[in-house]
Amino acid sequence: MSAQLHPIESVTQDAVPVAPPVTSAAPSQASPHIVVSGVDKIFPVPGGEVVALKDIDFTINRGEFVCLLGPSGCGKSTLLNAIAGFSHPTRGGIDVEGRTVAAPGPDRGMVFQEYALFPWMTVAQNIAFGLEIKGMSRGAIQARVAELLDMLKLAEFRDRFPKDLSGGMRQRVAIARVLALDSPVMLMDEPFGALDALTRRSLQDELLRIWAATGKTIVFVTHSIEESIYLADRIVVLTYRPGTIKRDLRVELPRPRDSASAAFNALKRDLSALVTAEQHRFEQVELKGLTTD
Ligand SMILES: Nc1ncnc2c1ncn2[C@@H]1O[C@H](COP(=O)(O)OP(=O)(O)OP(=O)(O)O)[C@@H](O)[C@H]1O
Ligand SMILES: [Mg+2]
Repeated sequence: MSAQLHPIESVTQDAVPVAPPVTSAAPSQASPHIVVSGVDKIFPVPGGEVVALKDIDFTINRGEFVCLLGPSGCGKSTLLNAIAGFSHPTRGGIDVEGRTVAAPGPDRGMVFQEYALFPWMTVAQNIAFGLEIKGMSRGAIQARVAELLDMLKLAEFRDRFPKDLSGGMRQRVAIARVLALDSPVMLMDEPFGALDALTRRSLQDELLRIWAATGKTIVFVTHSIEESIYLADRIVVLTYRPGTIKRDLRVELPRPRDSASAAFNALKRDLSALVTAEQHRFEQVELKGLTTD
């Protein structure tokens, strides 16, 4: 499959405050990693159907950090779950590493919003779990777990159970668990959505550091405009039902990004207008009982 039907626009550090310049841009030496082609997802519901995704086409290159941005109900999780292989598109297909996604696989690790940890296992055991399944030797598991505990500043919490950790710490464990498997693709569904602002920023920084060090391809779902600009190489904005691609934007602001800078705020205003329009449609439909399907 091959597809990049939606033009990717580009915002650079030279952006003027009011209207960020937008140009077409393609990264050099791009190598397709995830290819989403003509994807529709329709859920049957009593008395009808919900068209959650419609005509989704885009390609994510190896090592890219892509945020899927949009209000509640626009199909972000549906799209991420389809890439993960948890559910199948009604039409179209998704290739990862040139192979059509048919089921979940070790090449795609998923971090959920709600800290999907085993409550009966300690931090270290949670991180080791996937490695044991893989059949790695005891010594190698211990070495890898120690490395990850260190990387995510969890060493002193290694013997605690999830219930005795803060939300931020639990999410660090969830990230360590996925990193343990060393999947080339990390799929993250609003992983920091429930955290306070300071913890969230510190985990965002940590994720960026890990991404830079490992070169993983990251698909990160968020409804926070600020978070998407802070993190992403590229922001894909989805429309409210049916979820289609409203805008595909390359963010070329220098890293670490300054959320107080004029260019950052110009982009924030620009994206706010797009997302707010979709949020209004969401409110009309979900809160007033109208329908767009
Ligand atoms: N299993 C399902 N059956 C019926 N409808 C569903 C199902 N899963 C999702 N939907 C609908 O599909 C649309 C997209 O849902 P999805 O969960 O992907 O949105 P989202 O962008 O992740 O929203 P949120 O930000 O609230 O997590 C919504 O209207 C939702 O109600
Ligand atoms: Mg969701």
